[in-house]
This record gives sequence, C-alpha cells and structure tokens, in this order.
Amino acid sequence: MSTDIKQQRLAWAITGSGHYLRECLDIINTLQDVDLFLSRAAAEVLQQYGYKHNVGKVFQDKTASSVPVELFYQAHYHSLVIAPATSNTIAKMVCGISDNLVTNLYAQAGKTRVPSIIFACDTAPELESEAPREHMVKVYPRKIDLNNIANIKTFEATTVVEDMLSLNVSIQARLRAVIHNG
Ligand SMILES: Cc1cc2nc3c(=O)[nH]c(=O)nc-3n(C[C@H](O)[C@H](O)[C@H](O)COP(=O)(O)O)c2cc1C
Repeated sequence: MSTDIKQQRLAWAITGSGHYLRECLDIINTLQDVDLFLSRAAAEVLQQYGYKHNVGKVFQDKTASSVPVELFYQAHYHSLVIAPATSNTIAKMVCGISDNLVTNLYAQAGKTRVPSIIFACDTAPELESEAPREHMVKVYPRKIDLNNIANIKTFEATTVVEDMLSLNVSIQARLRAVIHNG
C-alpha cells in the first residue's frame, strides 16, 4: 500500500554526533510532518547533551533488519535528511554498507529514488566542536574523513551540505518542490 503524495513526510535521521546537534534540532523543531530516526549512538548522545525536540514520531534502532525502512517501500517519505552525520555513518554509506537503521535508510532511500540531504560533521580540516556540558574542543578530521565526504558528494540522489544555512535552504527547496509536484 503506497502513501498519497500529499501525505508524504520528511524522514530525518540523527547519528551520534555532538557537533551541530543542537543546531540540527533547532531546524527540526521548526518543521511539520517530520519523523525522527535515531542511530543507537544518537539516542545516547542526545541524552548526554540533554537536548530536547518536539517531534511526535521517533524511531529507535532496535531491530537487526531495520524494520522501519519498510516505510520507504510504502512511499511514506518524500525526502531523507541525515544531519548531523558522523564520520562513522558517512564511511559506511560511502562503502555501500547498510547494517543499522540510519545506513539502511540511506540505502533504501537510494533504491526507491527518494532524495537524501546530508550534513556531515567533518566538513573542514579543523573544527571547534561542543562537547557535553558546554565546553568546546578542537577537532581535526582525518584525511579519510574528508575523502569520504568528497566521495559521497558524487553519489546519486544525494545532496551534501556544509553548513546550517545550506541545510535549511536545501530542505526548504525540497519542501517547495514536493508541494509543487503534488
Ligand atoms: C558525546 C559524544 C559526542 C560525539 N560527537 C561526535 C561527532 O561530533 N562526530 C563524530 O563523527 N562522532 C562523534 N561521536 C562518536 C560517535 O557517536 C561514534 O562514532 C558512534 O559509533 C557513531 O555511531 P552512528 O554513526 O551509528 O551514529 C561522539 C560520541 C560522543 C560520546
């Protein structure tokens, strides 16, 4: 059974990144018709930072086969956002691995031709990142992290954004396109 295009929702996946987690939640909290998918690490990291969101439907990573991805086969979602995406999740996705909820969402979105928008945390060789309890740390993404991001930019149906403004702009453009096409 497939979902009417007008009822399609946005799937937003969060991975276990503290970097830009607060800013991503700020965007999520402005959106309607969004469902949240948490990697196992994301569920822990959210607790550690103590951040809140106002999304009603939240899918946790509890099953080996990532049962919630069947919603993509029912055309339940018009788009997938993965933000923030850890270097771990990016590395897996670049290798075509789909062994947990978030990497499965990306694989199934690709296979059902649903566009993905990704904000990777390791965007630059040197970053300032917020650790739990509000202290800042310097982070130096490795060559492999930066190479993986360059690589995923070449993937089909995938938009990689580098900052929160571009993330917001890409999401709004996608929402407008969905309304226009519906
Ligand atoms: C407090 C905290 C903050 C973290 N922040 C980041 C981060 O900003 N970027 C990153 O790549 N990993 C970060 N990690 C490590 C990831 O959570 C870890 O690699 C995890 O295995 C990622 O799993 P996932 O990609 O399935 O969410 C953080 C871990 C903790 C405990």
